[in-house]
Amino acid sequence: MKKPGTVKKIKSLSPAETLDFGRTCARLVKNTTVFALWGELGAGKTTFVKGAIKELGVKKEAVSPTFALLKQYSLSGNWKGWTLHHFDLYRLKSAQDFLNEGFGEIFKEPKSIILIEWPERISDILPKKRIDISFSHGDFSKIRIIGIKGL
Ligand SMILES: Nc1ncnc2c1ncn2[C@@H]1O[C@H](COP(=O)(O)OP(=O)(O)O)[C@@H](O)[C@H]1O
Ligand SMILES: [Mg+2]
Repeated sequence: MKKPGTVKKIKSLSPAETLDFGRTCARLVKNTTVFALWGELGAGKTTFVKGAIKELGVKKEAVSPTFALLKQYSLSGNWKGWTLHHFDLYRLKSAQDFLNEGFGEIFKEPKSIILIEWPERISDILPKKRIDISFSHGDFSKIRIIGIKGL
């Protein structure tokens, strides 16, 4: 892979391709890993998360948590003892609220896969060691440009 800090860009031509990319990224996890998923509404962040969740053997499909800021999944099989944490911070008011909820502790937990939609809500307290994935799209097209940094 490229030097850390370098942005690699890939093109996704369909939701299925973005899902597959999520699956691939999940396979690369070895230690506690934070994925910051950047991009506007409809860009493909949750589609990526669904792919990761599928790869890790969770049967129940993740739905974009509109009201819940955090959904957690205990993993099994090869991933026994691991937890996947899916944050959707769209409705979060401030990084302080995030800390007040005790969510900051999750970054210190071993065997955690942490996927964060709307990471800009906590930009000041985002772990430095993370993988940044940014999704961008045009209005009428299925094409998504996906930037990857830190992988
Ligand atoms: N290449 C693509 N990758 C991901 N989603 C796509 C793509 N093309 C079209 N879509 C559609 O765009 C929407 C993305 O939604 P979602 O993943 O929930 O975005 P976000 O979580 O960023 O708001 C879905 O309706 C999906 O079917
Ligand atoms: Mg979403």
